[in-house]
Amino acid sequence: MSEDRIIKPVSEPVFGPYLARYRVHEGLIKGLKERGMKSIPGSGNKELAGVIDDQRGYSKEDKEWFVKEFQPYMSAYSRGSCAHEQRMWDHNWTDKFELIALWINYMKENEYNPPHTHNGQVTWVIFLETPDLDKERDQYVGRSVGPGALTFHYGEASFPKWTVNQLTYLPMPGEMWIFPTMLEHSVIPFKTKGTRVSVSGNCVFMPPHMESRVMPEEYDRMKPQPVK
Ligand SMILES: [Fe+2]
Repeated sequence: MSEDRIIKPVSEPVFGPYLARYRVHEGLIKGLKERGMKSIPGSGNKELAGVIDDQRGYSKEDKEWFVKEFQPYMSAYSRGSCAHEQRMWDHNWTDKFELIALWINYMKENEYNPPHTHNGQVTWVIFLETPDLDKERDQYVGRSVGPGALTFHYGEASFPKWTVNQLTYLPMPGEMWIFPTMLEHSVIPFKTKGTRVSVSGNCVFMPPHMESRVMPEEYDRMKPQPVK
C-alpha cells in the first residue's frame, strides 16, 4: 500500500454521556441568590458529598418557582440528548421532570467536593458567583487541572494518553452544566479568600403528558431544617 494513500474511517462514533453548558437568564441567578440567602446555613450538609460548611436546601415554594424557570433548559437538554443519540424526537422522549432536590453551596477557600455522583437521572450545577482565581491559577505548578476547577470523570485514565476520560472547566458566573447523575465529578479547592456560590439539583424524567413538578414533600430528604 502506498504510504501517501489517505485513509478515512467508515465512522467515528460519538459515545459517552451527554453534557451541555448553558448561559442562564438573569432572573434565575437573582432568584436563586435571594432565595438561598433566606435559607438555613448548613441545612443541606447531611445529604451532600461536599467538604463545605454551608450547603442549604431550598423551600417547597422556592422549588416550585425553580421548576418553571428551569423548564426551558430541561427542554433543550432533553432534545440535545436525543440528537446526541442520533434519534428522532417522538413519544419515547420527554422533557417533563420531577425535581428531587435543589440546594445552594457557599464554597469558601480550602473547601472542596470529592469525586461523587448524584441520585435521579439528570443533575446540574449553576454558578452564581465565584472569586477571581486568575492569580492563584497562574502561580499553580503541577499536573492536575489546578485550583477551583470542576472535573467530570468518565472511564479509566491512561498514561501515555490515548483516551479523553476527563473534562475540566473553570467555573464562570452565570453558566450552568447539565449532565447525567451517574457521571462522576469533583471540584478542586482554591486558597484565594472568597466564596463561590453555586446551585445544584437532581431530577427524574416524567411521562411527556404530565406536567413538571416538585417531588412530594414527604420524600424530600433536604428540607431546610435547623442544624443540630
Ligand atoms: Fe455534584
